[in-house]
Amino acid sequence: MLRKRKSVVGLDIGASEIKAVELTDFGDSVKITGFCHCRVEPGEDIGVRINEMLHEAGIKSRRVVTSVSGRSVIVRYITLPLMNDEELKGALRYEADKYIPFEIDEVSIDGQKLEDVESSASGEQEMRVLLCAVKKDLIQDHINMIQETGLTPLAIDVDAFALGNAFELRNQNSPRVDDEDKIVALVDVGSVKTNINILRGNTSYFSREVYLAGDELTEGVARQLHLDDHEAEELKRNPGDRESEICEAIAPTLDDLANEIHLSFDYFENQFDREVGEVLISGGCAQTPGLQETFERVFDRQVLSWDPTENLELKGDRIDIEDLKSYAGQLPIAVGLGARLLML
Ligand SMILES: Nc1ncnc2c1ncn2[C@@H]1O[C@H](COP(=O)(O)OP(=O)(O)OP(=O)(O)O)[C@@H](O)[C@H]1O
Ligand SMILES: [Mg+2]
Repeated sequence: MLRKRKSVVGLDIGASEIKAVELTDFGDSVKITGFCHCRVEPGEDIGVRINEMLHEAGIKSRRVVTSVSGRSVIVRYITLPLMNDEELKGALRYEADKYIPFEIDEVSIDGQKLEDVESSASGEQEMRVLLCAVKKDLIQDHINMIQETGLTPLAIDVDAFALGNAFELRNQNSPRVDDEDKIVALVDVGSVKTNINILRGNTSYFSREVYLAGDELTEGVARQLHLDDHEAEELKRNPGDRESEICEAIAPTLDDLANEIHLSFDYFENQFDREVGEVLISGGCAQTPGLQETFERVFDRQVLSWDPTENLELKGDRIDIEDLKSYAGQLPIAVGLGARLLML
């Protein structure tokens, strides 16, 4: 009997664009077997848009991995004595009480060991652990929305870690031998938020969500050029011969954003005494005219875009390859969510 291949759809429900990447496990490799995206306008029914989009792209798998974000999602990096996974579960509940600003009964708690470390104070072995707490009502609303859409939620992730998982998947399949010790900052600039995840190898050391992104750039364009939000959004995406006006209108916000991200690099560098060596940007705003140059000036280091699909084989005649390649910079989170396939 033929074994049914395992497929999962990484579904990134962004504030302005929804992206879906279907990954299928072929035993010897994971391949992209479906891809689609669409824009959502304020007030539109997200469930309806998701179904239309999946249907048009011929994606049949109903099993999805999605993410939650915002101020109801708390992530902390903590250090604990060495313990096994079972003991860790109990310890996380106890520790969460110290680190999170909500009542413990209001949140779902999860976590995972990152790595063993030597305590600088006692010299004893300890472990660094990721603690994640999410308000239960946020998770429940999210699950209800997914189920009402007729989909099966397999797991719910957090954007910053999906970003890290996409990077890890790319590295796994990479013929290049990357420097394991290099510090890489992944920065995804969306429409309402910017996600930062700083990694050494594939291990996360710092992550943060900054609530400054594309919508503020659009507001800058609207204000300076006396346009409504819709006109400003379209002009920002397709400036044509008005690019210099756009650059001028968004320059102060781009500087603010770059400075805010730079603060996170400073924090990391002070805490770990290591330098962020490479900055990889993604998200729709990575294409904003002048963003890369502003980041390079403020960070005083090279800033590059990356393609989370570059080492993944494509399979399926419904995939629009040209669209996938030109949209790839907006796909790390969807690919990283789909990459949970390897952990299920
Ligand atoms: N070609 C382009 N030039 C400039 N900006 C663009 C372009 N394409 C998209 N954007 C901007 O990128 C943003 C959408 O990017 P993305 O899909 O990464 O965000 P999102 O996932 O929907 O939002 P969030 O992550 O904040 O929930 C919007 O602010 C949009 O204006
Ligand atoms: Mg996003």
